[in-house]
Amino acid sequence: MSLQIEGMTKRFGTNTVLRGVDLALAPGTITAFMGANGAGKSTLVKIVAGVHSASGGTMTLDGRPFAPVTPSAALRAGVVVVHQIINDNVVLTMDVLENLMIDRLCAGGSPIFRRRTHRDEAQAMLDRVGLDVPLSAELADLPLADRQMVAIARALAHDPKLLILDEPTSALSDSEAERLFAVLEGLRDQGVPILYISHRMGDIRRLADRIVTLRDGRVTGDFSAPLDYSGAVRAMLGAALDAAAHDRVPPGPPVLTARGLRVLPGAAPLDIDLNAAEVTAIVGLVGAGKTELAETLYGLRRPLAGKMTLNGAPYAPRHPGDAVAAGVFMAAEDRTGGSIVPDFDLARNVTLPFLGAFSQFGMMRRDREARRASEAIAALDIVAQGPDDPIASLSGGNQQKVVLARWLTRPARVLILDEPFQGVDIAARRDIGRALRATARDRATLVLCSDLDEAIELADRIVILSHGALRAEQEAGALDRTALVHAMSAAA
Ligand SMILES: Nc1ncnc2c1ncn2[C@@H]1O[C@H](COP(=O)(O)OP(=O)(O)OP(=O)(O)O)[C@@H](O)[C@H]1O
Ligand SMILES: [Mg+2]
Repeated sequence: MSLQIEGMTKRFGTNTVLRGVDLALAPGTITAFMGANGAGKSTLVKIVAGVHSASGGTMTLDGRPFAPVTPSAALRAGVVVVHQIINDNVVLTMDVLENLMIDRLCAGGSPIFRRRTHRDEAQAMLDRVGLDVPLSAELADLPLADRQMVAIARALAHDPKLLILDEPTSALSDSEAERLFAVLEGLRDQGVPILYISHRMGDIRRLADRIVTLRDGRVTGDFSAPLDYSGAVRAMLGAALDAAAHDRVPPGPPVLTARGLRVLPGAAPLDIDLNAAEVTAIVGLVGAGKTELAETLYGLRRPLAGKMTLNGAPYAPRHPGDAVAAGVFMAAEDRTGGSIVPDFDLARNVTLPFLGAFSQFGMMRRDREARRASEAIAALDIVAQGPDDPIASLSGGNQQKVVLARWLTRPARVLILDEPFQGVDIAARRDIGRALRATARDRATLVLCSDLDEAIELADRIVILSHGALRAEQEAGALDRTALVHAMSAAA
């Protein structure tokens, strides 16, 4: 199958997002679609998927006019999409089996849903992507990475004639992503055109046959093999990227210490110091215990063993309220599930945990709130019309920046960022890294990453977590990437 897009435009009210995009997807090619946060990538994808209608332009599929008015119309034509917002692809209140079979149920077919009949089929869908979770697990109870894999498994089961993946690896680490890549290469070899959106250069180097760049709603580059990656980054940003290399900031005294801490059953006890002025990245595969560790530091769960101190005093938060009161803040990994409040506008999503600081005599001072939001928009280059924007109208990466801005609003002793770069573009990652290092002074900063390269871009010190235990530690400026990769996948 082949898809041809000509002169596609899209406006949301007065905001023109796509300004005449031409794009042709040929059989058997993986096209990487690159663009900064807010460039219009997901908007284009949603038009092809029948979620939004275009304001102008035409599409043809194998030469025939194609203008899906609903997602199911696109699906019937063989156009399968994995959307960027992971929770848009799955139903959190249903279990894995139900999520995998939901399309079958909606399509009519047999009116009777028999779990037994569908079990083998659902298991085969999981096996294809190498996901090992019980079919009876509720999606809401699964880590984000597993939800993302369920979404991918469900999409692949549609037997796509054209496949579009919008940031499919944002919550996955290398080895999990590799399973997906192998499946995608299989589909490419069968002639399926694939449009692949990612902010991870590693994915693009690994997969892409071609790169198309989008900037401010216009195509600015079309690269074929041999691919010029830095040329593509320049075309997507409109400027060269600054150097990633940074020197290690000398660490200050320890702010938070953990001794003999156990966060996973059966794991070896773990000792760690988080030091003032230092950005520490903890990297590990899914299931390594990163989120458990973060949640323990933030009072969302009790340690199975061990003790912590904060600025020298015993620290044992019973819930996040205790942690925030002590100056320990955390931006959680599941943006759409927990941290973003869709009913609130951009400004309120920034100030939410600190409303007290933005009110006077019990009244919200909207002017202060809006001022803080405008500062955040400027400091982090958030693409938005202004502080009053509904948060859901922001692109995925820009929503992520809002969550970061929130936790930089008040001084923290310890700032924990769980997967802060999901869907954040390469230039913004550098800006955020710089902002974190520049504001670090008395604060200890802990970043949990599944992507090693993102950790290297950002951190002064990298620690590998595997099976709930620390395996290796290295400092920026003297990194051995191969040794880190090895430590990540080492057996317990
Ligand atoms: N439903 C909507 N209503 C209003 N504006 C929207 C809506 N969806 C997207 N936009 C605007 O369209 C622009 C492009 O957003 P889009 O989600 O397409 O960006 P993107 O390239 O996918 O970015 P990212 O890399 O962050 O995912 C943004 O300025 C966004 O605010
Ligand atoms: Mg997007």
